[in-house]
Amino acid sequence: MHFDGKAILVTGASRGIGREIAKAFAARGARVALHYRCELEAAETTRNMLTGEGHIIAQADLADPAAVKRMVDEVVERMGRIDVLVNNAGIYEELPLPEATYDEWAAYFPRVLGVNLYGAANATYCAAKYMMNQGGGRIVNISSRGAFRGEPDAPAYGASKAGLNSLGQSLAKLLAPHKIFIGTVAPGFVETDMAAERLAQPDGADILRQSPLGRVAKPEEVAHVAVFLASEGAEFTTGAIVDVNGASYLRS
Ligand SMILES: NC(=O)c1ccc[n+]([C@@H]2O[C@H](COP(=O)([O-])OP(=O)(O)OC[C@H]3O[C@@H](n4cnc5c(N)ncnc54)[C@H](OP(=O)(O)O)[C@@H]3O)[C@@H](O)[C@H]2O)c1
Repeated sequence: MHFDGKAILVTGASRGIGREIAKAFAARGARVALHYRCELEAAETTRNMLTGEGHIIAQADLADPAAVKRMVDEVVERMGRIDVLVNNAGIYEELPLPEATYDEWAAYFPRVLGVNLYGAANATYCAAKYMMNQGGGRIVNISSRGAFRGEPDAPAYGASKAGLNSLGQSLAKLLAPHKIFIGTVAPGFVETDMAAERLAQPDGADILRQSPLGRVAKPEEVAHVAVFLASEGAEFTTGAIVDVNGASYLRS
């Protein structure tokens, strides 16, 4: 899988899965735009880890539609084009219904969907417009097993990822004639900041046992699939949602 000179925008590349996705594309010859929200130093650390040249850093709060547009425009201006968008940035927040006030509940859904779904939808819009003009491109969405299995303690998170799955599938149909191909990765737990607190709880060992491999995923295992979905030759996977959950949850 080669991406020589291709321009890749990875959202949430300051750490975790996004950092590994950026490293995986750079290792295959790509120029990577590393998006972050507030951790500039962490984004710079990611850039220092990348092989090759031409990598840039771009800031935006994905909950702000104007910031998303400004960020994608800036990336295209500085890189000359955009070949791949990876919608990776996301937030995980728990709010079990029995413990929530109505005000908390009503604020919770727009807050989580605002980043995980609307942020990705807006970045997709902006990138797809450029891709249509340049003759094609790839979009990879990082979803979650929770979209299928349910997230009883984090229902807005589950809903945001189910929405992301549907968004990817709808646009895979719409944009295929424009040679824009869309793939989705649905990981179970992954060794990152996002999962660290959950894995540190007393039932953390039970989480490891959800997979017959007795562990959670490494971020590079998610990156491997993201790169594959964006690669030359994977066009006919468009619309697919690929599980990366170590057989912890098998859907039919
Ligand atoms: N870890 C897991 O167990 C797991 C499982 C399934 C799916 N996923 C999905 O995989 C993706 C990456 O997760 P991760 O574990 O790598 O997460 P992470 O370590 O918590 O990193 C989250 C990234 O998203 C960025 N981000 C957060 N809120 C943002 C906002 N409002 N605007 C712009 N950027 C924002 C962060 O930027 P800053 O560093 O600047 O804050 C950071 O780069 C997410 O979509 C997540 O839902 C993760």
